[in-house]
Amino acid sequence: MANLANDISEVLVTEEELREINKRLGAQITKDFKDKNLIVIGILKGSVYFMTDLTRYIDLPLKLDFLAVSSYGGGTRSSGAVKIVKDIDIDLAGYDVLLIEDILDSGRTLDYVSRMLQTRGANSISICTLLDKPARRAPDIDLVPDYVGCDVPDEFVVGYGLDYDQKYRNLPYIGALKREIYE
Ligand code: IMP
Ligand code: MG
Repeated sequence: MANLANDISEVLVTEEELREINKRLGAQITKDFKDKNLIVIGILKGSVYFMTDLTRYIDLPLKLDFLAVSSYGGGTRSSGAVKIVKDIDIDLAGYDVLLIEDILDSGRTLDYVSRMLQTRGANSISICTLLDKPARRAPDIDLVPDYVGCDVPDEFVVGYGLDYDQKYRNLPYIGALKREIYE
């Protein structure tokens, strides 16, 4: 039986908590970007659910764009090598960028992407991640996100955009994947 919830050992962030996170971050971003020229850039595919919900709580004119980077494949650990697979379409000159990511793990993805975007002429680059796993940050990465939904423990989590082997993205909450699924 294909029941997504059967593969989850524990619910870590409920649908209600996700809504509260989106409201809180949306209100803060609305304040912080009031006099700016906001473009929200989502990192595909994990940020899609978060980005579409969060931006509905940002009460400002804004543009949306996406980029895709190479990721984990079927495993649960990053290779460390980041590659742009799909670039943004919009010229960033004059914009204040808000980068949206599903989860900050080693930090290598966001470190690479934010450095890359810094060469594109944007006024500013800010980072918003739904989840943070501070325990997993690589020792050589000193990236500090501007907006964080919540911290999660060092477990493999899925749902609300986050996948394991491209599955579980459509689970409406964040859950820890049972170890027997990936070990
Ligand atoms: P980093 O470059 O190591 O920070 O990894 C960030 C990327 O790894 C995220 O965008 C996710 O795609 C993926 N990732 C890291 N931890 C998890 C997890 O627990 N569940 C699902 N994806 C994860
Ligand atoms: Mg990702």
